Amino acid sequence: MCGIIGLCFNKTEELGKLLYKGLQRLEYRGYDSAGIAVLNSGRLFVVKGKGMLRDLEERLKFTEYTGSTGIGHTRWATHGAPSDINAHPHVDCKGFFAVVHNGIIENFDELKKWLINRGHIFASETDSEVIVHLIEEYYRELGDVYEAFKRAIRSLKGAFAILMITPLEENKVFFAKKDSPLIIGLREDYKVLASDIPAILDHTCSVIVLRDYWVGYVTPSRVHIEDLASGKPIDYSTYIRLIEWSIEEASKGGYPHFMIKEIYEQPLALINTITGLRSSREFPLVVKMLVDARRVYVTGAGTSYHAAEFYAIASNTLTGLLTIPFIASEYEAYVNAVRDGDILIAISQSGETMDVLKAVRMFKERGARVVAVSNVVESAIPRESHISLYTRAGPEIGVAATKTFLAQTLLLSWLLVELAEYTGAISSSEHRELVKSLEESPRLVEVSLERSEKTAYELSEVYAEKKSMYYLSRHIGLPIAKEGALKIKEIAYIHAEAYPAGESKHGPIALVESAFPVVFIVPKLVWLEHSTKGNIEEMKARGAKTLGIVCDESPVVSLLDHVITVPCPHWLLTPISHTPPLQLLAYYTAIRKGLDPDRPRNLAKTVTVE
Ligand code: G6P
Repeated sequence: MCGIIGLCFNKTEELGKLLYKGLQRLEYRGYDSAGIAVLNSGRLFVVKGKGMLRDLEERLKFTEYTGSTGIGHTRWATHGAPSDINAHPHVDCKGFFAVVHNGIIENFDELKKWLINRGHIFASETDSEVIVHLIEEYYRELGDVYEAFKRAIRSLKGAFAILMITPLEENKVFFAKKDSPLIIGLREDYKVLASDIPAILDHTCSVIVLRDYWVGYVTPSRVHIEDLASGKPIDYSTYIRLIEWSIEEASKGGYPHFMIKEIYEQPLALINTITGLRSSREFPLVVKMLVDARRVYVTGAGTSYHAAEFYAIASNTLTGLLTIPFIASEYEAYVNAVRDGDILIAISQSGETMDVLKAVRMFKERGARVVAVSNVVESAIPRESHISLYTRAGPEIGVAATKTFLAQTLLLSWLLVELAEYTGAISSSEHRELVKSLEESPRLVEVSLERSEKTAYELSEVYAEKKSMYYLSRHIGLPIAKEGALKIKEIAYIHAEAYPAGESKHGPIALVESAFPVVFIVPKLVWLEHSTKGNIEEMKARGAKTLGIVCDESPVVSLLDHVITVPCPHWLLTPISHTPPLQLLAYYTAIRKGLDPDRPRNLAKTVTVE
């Protein structure tokens, strides 16, 4: 979604530079337009436009703006196409108030009509602009900026993280939050507000993660927060957290793109996730909850849904406990069957995805208990869940998820291994073996990367010319095939479809002609390797060019045109062994096509709308 930043401080010369830097750190949340507003000597300056941040900087020179207080926004359009006018910040009719907003105002239509009737003139097509006119309207009536701001916020329905500045109160940034993330970074001498941690880390490690319906303002030396409904001030001292991520972790560290940096960070991400699991007090409690569950559901969106599907297949196979996976936005199709005693595992890297949050809320209403699996501590989904498990993959900035997928599947595998032992589905010696393999997963991903680098790079030249591809697999390989297809679709813009290999002859094969690329993901399961042989033959007979991601000594090797072999200690570790080659393939194909893999068109890292 969008990224917002606010700075309230005294280093007037640096304001524009620091706002720009903050926006660069938030660019992964949206990048179709951007803008800033600054206050300088009682005057409000707003500069914004459509385009990528670095191009806008050349045109609009954000970094040259000076002042005491400022806000900024980087946009991923929802209401109103990307354009100069629709870019944030938005200002009221008289130019007294400037607002940036992340989220969606659901009742904007009705508010806009009301405001137009009262003489307000709208410049943009956005939902967000109603906020600033509401503030203007209520200020006219109440004559107090903060009271007008709060009344405006109370009129809003939907999701929002909002920042507002005005020359009427030059040294304040006003804020409000519901359903969209907002964090305050605390320093003695100034305060910074942002949608996410990477934008704060340049300034401080000490943060307050704001809760829904909190509203307030910061000055350079002070923070005021109150509960919007009761008006009671919040003692935020108990909410201050120290962030352990370093700024190096949140920057590219010598790699040309975040995506490739994050692909190569996977061994470390897994090491940290394992360390985190070992010390987790929640982990054994979740195992117990799953043992006692009436029924288990698992959900997520995008890549996190693939982790969910992996969990369900692995649970059915390893533990014999049926788990029902569903795509988060499809919760309506499942929620009516939910009862007390059911469990929902809600997977979300960011912990903010609205589709997942909605599923969590609906399942809770029906009596389910919710286990969150997230990479961001105290984000919305963990906060609204009964218990949370965290991957420790560090910040993921590349829009296409990579290291967090491996960390998620490792965590989920570990959960299943414990569950399987608890229920007697596996013996203690099988349990020991599996735990050992999981502990060795950081090395496994290292080897998988080493072995796939060259072939992935070479084949990317071929794939860069293609319009369509198939990714075929069976069983535990199917969510990995889906993840591979999603990666190349997201960042290299190739139409890629993942299909159960057995099902591919019931339709998809009609498209296969000479040199049509088909990627087979072949995990280590004897029956699977055997039954995939026929599917490879079927594709080859129609002229397909096949690539296989296969295990050492797999019987299918001789059938394939191209092969990447990876070590396979157990089928449960298939995501760890088989996903890295698919990530590299997508990355290099995007690079060959001259595309920026960190900023794919029309996508955002965190989608906080339904
Ligand atoms: C967006 C991103 C995907 C991501 C999905 C779920 O669509 O572009 O890369 O997988 O959201 O995100 P989450 O943070 O919930 O895992």
